[in-house]
Amino acid sequence: MSAAEPVDLTVADLHPALGDPALTSMNFLNEVSERHPTAVSLAAGRPYEEFFDVAAVHRHLDTFHRHLVDDLGHRPEQARRLLLQYGRTKGIVHHLIARNLAVDEGITVDPEDVVVTVGCQEAMFLVLRALRAGPADVLLAVAPTYVGLTGAARLVDLPVWPVAGGPTGVDLADLAAQVRRARAAGLRPRACYLMPDFANPSGVSIDTAHRQRLLDLAAQEDLLLLEDNPYGLFHSDDGPRPPTLKALDTGRRVVYLGSFAKTVLPGARVGYVVADQRVGGPGGRVGTLADQLAMIKSMVTVNTSPIAQAVIGGRLLEHGCSLVAANTRERSAYTRNLRHLVAGLTRRFPAQPDQPDQPNQPEHPDQPEHPDQPGVRWTVPAGGFFVVVTVPFPVDDALLDRSARDYGVLWTPMAHFYDDTAPVRALRLSVSAVTPEQIDVGLDRLAALITDELTRRAG
Ligand SMILES: Cc1ncc(COP(=O)(O)O)c(C=O)c1O
Repeated sequence: MSAAEPVDLTVADLHPALGDPALTSMNFLNEVSERHPTAVSLAAGRPYEEFFDVAAVHRHLDTFHRHLVDDLGHRPEQARRLLLQYGRTKGIVHHLIARNLAVDEGITVDPEDVVVTVGCQEAMFLVLRALRAGPADVLLAVAPTYVGLTGAARLVDLPVWPVAGGPTGVDLADLAAQVRRARAAGLRPRACYLMPDFANPSGVSIDTAHRQRLLDLAAQEDLLLLEDNPYGLFHSDDGPRPPTLKALDTGRRVVYLGSFAKTVLPGARVGYVVADQRVGGPGGRVGTLADQLAMIKSMVTVNTSPIAQAVIGGRLLEHGCSLVAANTRERSAYTRNLRHLVAGLTRRFPAQPDQPDQPNQPEHPDQPEHPDQPGVRWTVPAGGFFVVVTVPFPVDDALLDRSARDYGVLWTPMAHFYDDTAPVRALRLSVSAVTPEQIDVGLDRLAALITDELTRRAG
């Protein structure tokens, strides 16, 4: 081969995760929406853009800068360095995150146990990278699950074993059975990943009693829980929110994953992980899991942009470190949209005999079609961004393509959230980045697609 000849690589020579559906999924979904820019998108789980405000970003930065000088006593050059120089691997807003967790969630954490990351996505990657010590390790994850988790697991060669979710959010009998099955096969289940609040994509939440039972089971089976909570603040009723698993955790069983994408700004790309687990070594204790994660982070992203952290820090400071207080407008917009979407589905599919009569009791999107129940069904979540619509035919990427091209509406096939190739008769609708008017147009188009599809299949 001459020096001038171009080098061509093949995917087969790269990491096996490249080309895996878990990694190509997000690109495919983005690409469909880019190809159909005028389609109404009930697909994107992005936050509402109406409240984005460039001027507020400058103000947050100034607020955090003043905090460094006035509250923490930094000299001007120190404050400037902290904001603009390479910085502490674990981050510079860890103390405010700890305060936020105390104020909003009743969680007491040592700020040293917090690692500020480039989005929650990096936090997941760091944790999975640390936990995957060898080929016998597996991760359990409640199915359907967030595709970003499955993709991150693929990148560190960690197989993901599904655990049934069901109407309670996690089927504890199945979780116990999967742990035992894995161990009987000589494998080591390292943790179980789950989203106890308004899960993506199912919308299901776990009630408080079941959370406690889950923690008991985790203790009994000596299992870590990875709690991912990007949507917990967006409950649509006015009652109290259930405590997070981390708030109930007395045995350091829970690694808590946080994101500011939905509660502050996705463009800042800031998330975090609370990892207070003690880590021992041959000579005794070597620190905490947070310390180990920081070591990995130092070789992945070095540190999270301090400018981006300052924007998050400033927003926290301006609301007494309460994201509940900072998100009153957002919460009511999401609640309005969720109710509008559910009412809109009820109006457009009025004669369905099998409507879920209890809110928050979603149908299993993967359950086989019941011959007596050919209708269209949907979940009624108590908050969050997502509603799952079950239809009597398989929903795949080709149907999404047709929906975008011929009907002008985008949604997400639920098949993307299952780690197998079995057909799934369900799709996910997101209410977060649309107006009620767009929801109306989107649902009219979706109803037309479903009606035409049913007619076509009947003929
Ligand atoms: C359940 C879940 N976890 C994590 C993330 C990623 O969060 P971030 O944008 O902070 O990386 C998302 C984003 O949609 C999500 O739905």
